[in-house]
Parts: sequence; C-alpha cells; structure tokens
Amino acid sequence: MAETRAGAGRRTKLTVVGAGSVGTAVAYACLLRGSADVIALYDIQAAKVRAEVLDLNHGTQFAPACRIEGSDDLAVTAGSDLIVVTAGAKQHPDQSRLDLAAANVTLVRELIPHLLSASPGAVIVVVSNPVDVVTYAAIAATGITDGRIFGSGTVLDSGRLRYLVAARAGVAVENVHGFVVGEHGDSEVALWSGTTIGGVPVDSFRVDGRAVFGQQVRTELFEQVVRSAYEIIRGKGATNLAIGLSTARIVEAVLRDQRRVLAVSTLQTGRPGLEEVCLSLPTIVDAGGARTVLDVPMSDTEAAGLAASAATLRQVQTSLGL
Ligand code: LAC
Repeated sequence: MAETRAGAGRRTKLTVVGAGSVGTAVAYACLLRGSADVIALYDIQAAKVRAEVLDLNHGTQFAPACRIEGSDDLAVTAGSDLIVVTAGAKQHPDQSRLDLAAANVTLVRELIPHLLSASPGAVIVVVSNPVDVVTYAAIAATGITDGRIFGSGTVLDSGRLRYLVAARAGVAVENVHGFVVGEHGDSEVALWSGTTIGGVPVDSFRVDGRAVFGQQVRTELFEQVVRSAYEIIRGKGATNLAIGLSTARIVEAVLRDQRRVLAVSTLQTGRPGLEEVCLSLPTIVDAGGARTVLDVPMSDTEAAGLAASAATLRQVQTSLGL
C-alpha cells in the first residue's frame, strides 16, 4: 500500500462511469491488475450495472483484493480519488469518432459537475469519444484547467503503433518507444522521428543489414493504427479490451503517483498553433493529473500534421459552440 496515492492505510477509490462495453472493460482490467482498492461502477441503467457488478464480484476471489460496488445512484461515486468517464453514445460501423460529438458533449457537461460535487478532489479521466472534444467541453464546463481533467487520448493508439512496430521488428513490445499524438482519431500523427527500438531509431533499425522501416512500411503500419477501431467495430461491434487495459495504465499512474509519460489529451497552452484545444502529446501523469506536457522534438512534417489535427478539432468545437 505504500505505493498508493494517499499512502499506507488509505484505500484508493476508482469510479467508472458507464457500464457499457468500455466501462466494464476498464473495471475488469483494473480489477485484474489490482489498480485500485475500491471500484465503483455507475450507470443510469440499474439492471445492467447490478449485473456487471455481480459478475465482477464473483471473480474477486481470483484477483487482487478489491471491493466492487455499483449503482444507478450517483451517491455510489462519492469520495472517489479518480473518476473515469466512459458514458455516452458509441461509434457504429463506419461512423467516425467525431460523429458522436454533440451527444457526448451534452452528456459530460451535465454529468461532470455532479460527479465533482460528490468527489470534490477527484482527478477525472475522460474516455468517451470524441475524447479530445469531450475533454475540452468538460474543462470548459468546470473551469478546471490545471490538468486535473484530461482525456485518455492516444495512449491506446501509441500502444497500437508499438505493437505493430514490435511485431515487424521481431522484438518485445516493451522495447519499442514511440508516440501517436494529436487527435484520438483520423487526423492523428505518428512521431516516427522519435520512435526507437531498444534505443535504436527506427530509421537505423536493420535486420540482416536491411532497413525494416522504410517509408512504405511506415505508411502501411500507421494506416493500420488509424483504421484499427473501424476494423474492430465492424467485426465485434465495439472496441473495449485494449482501451480497458490502456485506461488501467492511466488509472495506476494517477492512483500510485507514478509520473508516467503517457500520450494523454490535455488542454494545450504551450505550443504555438495548438492553443484552445485538447489533444495528446507525451505528458507526465501523476496524482494531480496530467500537468506537464513534454516539449517533444518532431520533424517539420510531424509538426505540420499536428497543427492540422488541432485545426480539425477546433473546427468541431466551433461547430458545437464550444
Ligand atoms: C478505440 C476507441 C476507444 O480507438 O476510440 O478503440
């Protein structure tokens, strides 16, 4: 327990809002990984949330110690250290994440002030899509601009890229470092210039004397990253397992004050051209939220892609009156 946010003797409480496929996958991943001492699941559908909590509780014997509770009453969320918001409309086949904006922005604007009344000190992680726009709306609705509210952003997309690079290079995924930045969506950008395999830049990575990551391979792998969610939604109706696991990583960074560098979505203030949007860049995540965005080097093409991604998000915000 020495590692937990509040120190020995204090139980860490995570609330997951939304008992759909993403919310339950987040709760399940956090249960298996022992990410929190208490997990509360909140959803307006009483029967659904009750069923998910029963199902999770029946597995507690086989997982690290954790108390799981759930309700359609917001009181179940009270006293949370961290709240993960997954509620809202979800993508249908061939819909883009941005198509969900209006419905999910309205929902979080309404919901987050209530959540904060019950848990005034909580860090809030938005997962509902389009995550950058929804995070921006949550920050605008509450006036909390210091990184205590942030989005899951491109942590998952970075994981997808690392997985594909690792498979192509024939190395363990933990040995690949690299980030996808910008919108969690179609305009995102892979920072190939800073991607390394065991410390070797992808440009210099060779197998049997031959370069592995030429331009064509990079384009192909990155297209796979961007298309991933569409492909999964066509095949199984929703993406949930990997977003559950990647969110558990974010949860641990907050509840254990880990200062992990993650590509989460925060309100941008530093870089010229990126003001007044939430988007992802490598950011230090700790018990206070996501407060320090790294000044990551990028090529001119990557920087231009990032600025275009910001412009796309700003357009959506403007169209919603944000
Ligand atoms: C995905 C959803 C979480 O990319 O947007 O899988």
